[in-house]
Amino acid sequence: MIDINKAIDALKWEKEPRGLYEPISYTLASGGKRIRPTLTLIGAEAIVNGSLLNGDAIEQAVPAALAFEVFHNFTLMHDDVMDRAEIRRGQPTVHVKWNDNTAILSGDQMLIEAYKLLSDVPADKLPQVLKWFNEMATGICEGQQMDMDFEHESHISIDDYLKMIELKTAVLLANALRTGGYIAGANESEQQALYEYGLHIGLAFQIQDDILDVYGDPKTFGKAIGGDICSNKKTFLLLTALETADAETKAELLQWLIATEHDEQKKIAAVTAIYSRLGVREAGETVMEEHTSLALAQLDKLPQNAATEKLRVLAEQLVTRNK
Ligand code: IPE
Ligand code: IPE
Ligand code: MG
Ligand code: MG
Ligand code: MG
Repeated sequence: MIDINKAIDALKWEKEPRGLYEPISYTLASGGKRIRPTLTLIGAEAIVNGSLLNGDAIEQAVPAALAFEVFHNFTLMHDDVMDRAEIRRGQPTVHVKWNDNTAILSGDQMLIEAYKLLSDVPADKLPQVLKWFNEMATGICEGQQMDMDFEHESHISIDDYLKMIELKTAVLLANALRTGGYIAGANESEQQALYEYGLHIGLAFQIQDDILDVYGDPKTFGKAIGGDICSNKKTFLLLTALETADAETKAELLQWLIATEHDEQKKIAAVTAIYSRLGVREAGETVMEEHTSLALAQLDKLPQNAATEKLRVLAEQLVTRNK
């Protein structure tokens, strides 16, 4: 079995100028859950293909798996600049340890490195893999723009939110899994099932990320708590609170959204108290469960083997994760 962590650690970043490559090395060495490359490899493993031995199929999916993880880390490096986030994976973010320009340019280089890795996908599979990768990358940029626009907009619906998180987060998980399956020879209906499974776990994944941003333990979560509240992110929690609050609570919440001169910790505590009073975390967990069920239903359309069993377990684990 391929050890994806070893494969990521084996990527070489000793090139010059150090100012460009050191932040890449720093970011990838900080770890993370490596869910996306894991999905690519499980996607390959799930597909039983007559023309390829299972081991070969997984081996052939490794360059794409690496490309997804390097690409993901590129999006995080730029996301931390956009969100002014100071801590990730328990360490200072690149724009804090170095500066914004470093995060921009090392991030750009990581995007290029992701495409270089992708170019090692077997030649007969590359055109489709590249087309999907480009659609995904554009989706993420669109989702990230919506995420930022929404900070300054007041009438965002839960449907707008779901579209936004589908783009900024879910399409990457979905495409990572589908691409692994495709490289192993998945037929169209299997490709579709893998993608749909990934979309649904991706939606649940981002709702849980919103929850952990408020209720997580910073030591295990590795990010600062309350960042979304400080920047008025239209998270599942905030939108549900705005929708379900009585007039008085809603007025209090809106006051915090327009407050300019305020103590950040006070805002985090006050908004968190409103969330807890309204039970918006539980509302989020219910929606996550719905998407987990929709994801699991897709697995019936795939071969039933050890890899699809892993996907079953993973769907359940992601919604109760604490990091
Ligand atoms: C963080 O992704 C960005 C989101 C889509 C919420 P992960 O939670 O997968 O981050 P790492 O790679 O494990 O640190
Ligand atoms: C994740 O959004 C989406 C991307 C990074 C593309 P977040 O802004 O919620 O991610 P974290 O919480 O900083 O990891
Ligand atoms: Mg962020
Ligand atoms: Mg963000
Ligand atoms: Mg977040």
